[in-house]
Amino acid sequence: MERYLNKGIKQVIIEFPAVGSILDEYNIGCTLCGVGACLLKDIVEVHNLSPEEERELMGRISKVIYPDRVVEIPVTQRKNGGAGAGEVKYSPPMQGLVDEHTVIKRLLAMIPFIIEDMEVSRGEDRALVLGTVDFIRSYADRYHHAKEEDILFKEFDENLDIIKVFNEDHKIGRGHVKAVIEALETGDNRSIKEHLAGYRELLKGHIKREDEVLYPWMDRNLSTSQIGRLFAGFINVDEQFREVRAKQGAFVKTLEKKYKYEEVK
Ligand SMILES: [Fe+2]
Ligand SMILES: [Fe+2]
Repeated sequence: MERYLNKGIKQVIIEFPAVGSILDEYNIGCTLCGVGACLLKDIVEVHNLSPEEERELMGRISKVIYPDRVVEIPVTQRKNGGAGAGEVKYSPPMQGLVDEHTVIKRLLAMIPFIIEDMEVSRGEDRALVLGTVDFIRSYADRYHHAKEEDILFKEFDENLDIIKVFNEDHKIGRGHVKAVIEALETGDNRSIKEHLAGYRELLKGHIKREDEVLYPWMDRNLSTSQIGRLFAGFINVDEQFREVRAKQGAFVKTLEKKYKYEEVK
C-alpha cells in the first residue's frame, strides 16, 4: 500500500479505474482534475476527511489494489486535527476571495444567454462579447487571479502539485480568452461560442474546487501572521481595483437585467 500512497493519483486511477469511482463517491473529483499529480496519500489531507471517512476510503481503495490481501493502512499525519468536512468557515482574506467568486459565477451564468443566438457581425452581439472578455480579463484575471497568484500562492511552496493544478487552470482560461479575441478578429462565430463555453466550464469547476478544497486546506495551513499579511495585501489590491470592481459589478447587473435573470445574492 505504501508504494501506491506515494504514487500520483492519476497514475493510480489509470491502473485501477475503480479507484476513480470511489473517490468520486466521496466528492473528491480527481477524475475531473486536469493535472492529477497529487499523491494518493495527500488526497486525505487536502480534502480534510474525518478519520472515519479516511479509514473507510483507504480500506475500499486497498481492496481494489490488493483484492486478495488484508492490507494494513497507515494513518495519515495531518495538521490541525483534520476535523472532517462540514460547514466551511473561511478566514477573512479567504472569505474575500470566495465573495469575488460569487461575482464571477454570476458572469458565468450569463454566458449561455450571451452565446445562444450570438451573431458576431451584429454590433450589439459583438459589444456583449467584448464586454464579457473585458470582465474576464480585468475582474477575473487581473484582479482575482492575480491576487491568488501574486499574494496567496506565494505563501506556499509553488512546486506543490496542488498549487500547480490551480495555476494551470488560470493558464488554460487565458488560452480560451485569447482564442475568443482571435475569433472576434476573424469573425469566427463558432469559435467564440466554443471558447466562451469552455471558459465557463473550466471556471465553474475551478471555483468549486477552490471554495471546497483549496481555500479550506490553505486556511488550515496558514499561520495567524500569514493570514494578517494576506489581509493587508488584499486590501491594497482591492483599493487599486476599486473602479474595475464597480464597473464590472455594474456590467453583470446589466446582463442580469437584460436576460431577466434573478440576481444571485
Ligand atoms: Fe484560481
Ligand atoms: Fe479563485
